[in-house]
Amino acid sequence: MNKVTVIGAGNVGATVANVLAHKDFIKEIVLVDIKGDLAQGKALDSWQQAPIDYYSTRLIGTDDYSKTKDSDIVVITAGLPRKPGMSRDDLISTNAGIVNSVTASVVKYSSNPIIIVVSNPLDVMTYAAYKVSGISDHRVFGMAGILDTARYRAFLAEALDVSPKDIQAILMGGHGDSMVPLPRFTTVSGIPVTELIEESKLNAIVDRTKVGGGELVKLMGTSAWYAPGAAAAQMVEAIAKDEKRIFPCCARLNGQYGLNDVFVGVPVKLGQNGIEQILELKLSDSEKQLLHQSAAEVKVTMEVYDKLPAA
Ligand code: NAI
Ligand code: 2OP
Repeated sequence: MNKVTVIGAGNVGATVANVLAHKDFIKEIVLVDIKGDLAQGKALDSWQQAPIDYYSTRLIGTDDYSKTKDSDIVVITAGLPRKPGMSRDDLISTNAGIVNSVTASVVKYSSNPIIIVVSNPLDVMTYAAYKVSGISDHRVFGMAGILDTARYRAFLAEALDVSPKDIQAILMGGHGDSMVPLPRFTTVSGIPVTELIEESKLNAIVDRTKVGGGELVKLMGTSAWYAPGAAAAQMVEAIAKDEKRIFPCCARLNGQYGLNDVFVGVPVKLGQNGIEQILELKLSDSEKQLLHQSAAEVKVTMEVYDKLPAA
């Protein structure tokens, strides 16, 4: 992989760049921020870590989009994070303006990159990047499900006193309190989790996962970055190495699960072409109902976006 651009050199963007540099398979990472010196500083700091941690990836920080020319993958993290008391949707109009403008600048210099959106409100910001970029929907998608699933897996590992490595799980729906954890598809090294934990404890973990982002905002006064940054980096790696990994990602549905033209979290196969397949699980009626409810909430935010003057 030659070139990855990360837009936004704040907490999440700088973490994505730093985690990717450590993986050492990308030739060049360009970190862009409206505050040019910030991106330059973070890129230089990460580059000076290379002799210590042994990686060769070059990191460059800038506020000049011409330096992003011919990027293979672009990760968009620009935007305001949540503050205590704010929902992700409170950010919609401010971050829509930011995501619209950075997407337009990205496609000015890279004709057909794969775009991974991280900025919140995630599902509608992914829609914004899709609309503004004009790039096909299997190349524009969002990161949320890997993070939400990681939180759920971490809570389960703690409750069961097992390694988080051994917990496999999937979540669906929008990146909000209406996300749809699926205990039926959760296993511990192949053992259904329902055989290992009481229903009430599992329900409490599901509830904690749904507000997992808010828990961190309350603790830190801003939203999380280590796990979100690592999650976006994992998506970049799956694409760059054509790994065909199955992850929950925010994807545009075209009839799958009975939903159309809505960006929502579903299991997808990620490879060199971006989303290579959307996997359709056989959901129970109640699971399907929860997914449709979550998608309907996302649809409302997409309509809000469509009515914004900047859209
Ligand atoms: P941050 O405030 O640390 O960094 C955001 C950066 O974006 C700032 O450095 C800012 O200067 C930059 N920026 C703003 N406008 C820009 C523009 N037009 N061009 C280039 N850069 C611009 O925020 P943080 O914590 O890094 O979060 C970034 C976004 O990611 C937020 O919207 C946050 O809600 C979202 N997020 C999403 C997650 C997910 O699961 N999808 C998880 C965590 C955060
Ligand atoms: C998170 O879930 C706020 O979306 C961000 O941490």
